[in-house]
Amino acid sequence: MTNMANKMISNPFVVGKYLTDEYFCDRIEETAFLLKQIVNGRNVALISPRRMGKTELIHHCMRQSDIADNYFPIFVDIYATTSLAEFVYQLGKAVYEKLAPKSEIWKQRFFSVVSSLRMGFKLDPMTGEPGFDIGLGDIKTPQTTLDEIFNYLEQAEKPCIVAIDEFQQIGNYEEKNTEAMLRTLIQRCANTSFIFAGSKRHMMANMFTSPSKPFYQSSITMGLNPIPLDTYCQFAARMFKLGERSIEEDVVRSVYEDYNGCTWFMQMMMNELFALTPMREKCVKSMLPQAKRGIILSQEQTYKETLSQMAPRQKMLLQAIARDKEARNITSQEFISRHSLPSASSVQSAAKGLLSSDIITKDDDAYRIYDYFFSEWLAKVY
Ligand SMILES: Nc1ncnc2c1ncn2[C@@H]1O[C@H](COP(=O)(O)OP(=O)(O)OP(=O)(O)O)[C@@H](O)[C@H]1O
Ligand SMILES: [Mg+2]
Repeated sequence: MTNMANKMISNPFVVGKYLTDEYFCDRIEETAFLLKQIVNGRNVALISPRRMGKTELIHHCMRQSDIADNYFPIFVDIYATTSLAEFVYQLGKAVYEKLAPKSEIWKQRFFSVVSSLRMGFKLDPMTGEPGFDIGLGDIKTPQTTLDEIFNYLEQAEKPCIVAIDEFQQIGNYEEKNTEAMLRTLIQRCANTSFIFAGSKRHMMANMFTSPSKPFYQSSITMGLNPIPLDTYCQFAARMFKLGERSIEEDVVRSVYEDYNGCTWFMQMMMNELFALTPMREKCVKSMLPQAKRGIILSQEQTYKETLSQMAPRQKMLLQAIARDKEARNITSQEFISRHSLPSASSVQSAAKGLLSSDIITKDDDAYRIYDYFFSEWLAKVY
């Protein structure tokens, strides 16, 4: 696609946003599956544990020519929103920024269709161009504005794809009718399809698979598993080669095992390992501890901030879980006395808070801290 030979980036293990697909590993089947749903006008709910690669998969799909040439893809991340007005604000902004630059007519039409935001329509004094200058406080009638935004999308000359990331967030809005209202609006769309992505597994799953919920059976539900071990090994070898280095396969296998194949943690480790390997040399297993230390050190400030916002008993429980790595029966007398915790009821309420903020996860009765690096820091450094 792009010219790889002379545009090698400094580290091929990307841990932030991808600009091209060259450094993106696999996800071939997942991409094909997602595209198929979209092309056939179906909505998709993409649900997986955190850091598995949902957001990047969506961006990857949107970059594919089938989509980029024939649709208007619009991406909104609603992680930080806590009310319907904020949702409408983020969506309106994303829609405007995507469609308005397409043509002057489209720019003007936005404010005629989304008439509740007309006061935000201002001509730039320098260029005379209309611009989007709305603040959160300008969303006075969120439902009306939302309705208008959907009308605007429906009039676009290409079908639109709206990806709403961290969709589970709408379950926390004060406006308890948000799900039902959105569902009604979405159902009316003929020209627009939706991708709902989210990570709080139970909450997202509940929204889409519980018969009493508005979004029940409204979408195709799609999970995301770890990239297969062999595929990731080949990818890692190829990336090292691109950077004129090599890597023992055992190193990749060991990283995969340590982080259960979870994409972000593996990419972080490979990025650090790549950085530690001089050009034309080989990355070997003995470099693993140094790489881990490097990452933990670079994240330390974030860890401290996370802890600073926690109640003392949550911290106690967190450290206890970190020391066990996988903790079972956390309200048992054995667990409580081994870690000198206050009481079963305090453990229970601390666990509830930590689970809901996604700091710990629970799989088949085993609790662990979802961020492996944080866990190691808590157990060994803090
Ligand atoms: N296919 C891939 N190949 C290489 N790296 C990837 C791939 N997918 C994701 N990543 C890396 O893993 C990290 C996590 O991916 P992403 O942010 O998409 O996960 P997520 O599931 O949306 O996480 P969260 O639930 O926290 O929002 C990204 O920073 C990216 O660098
Ligand atoms: Mg994400």
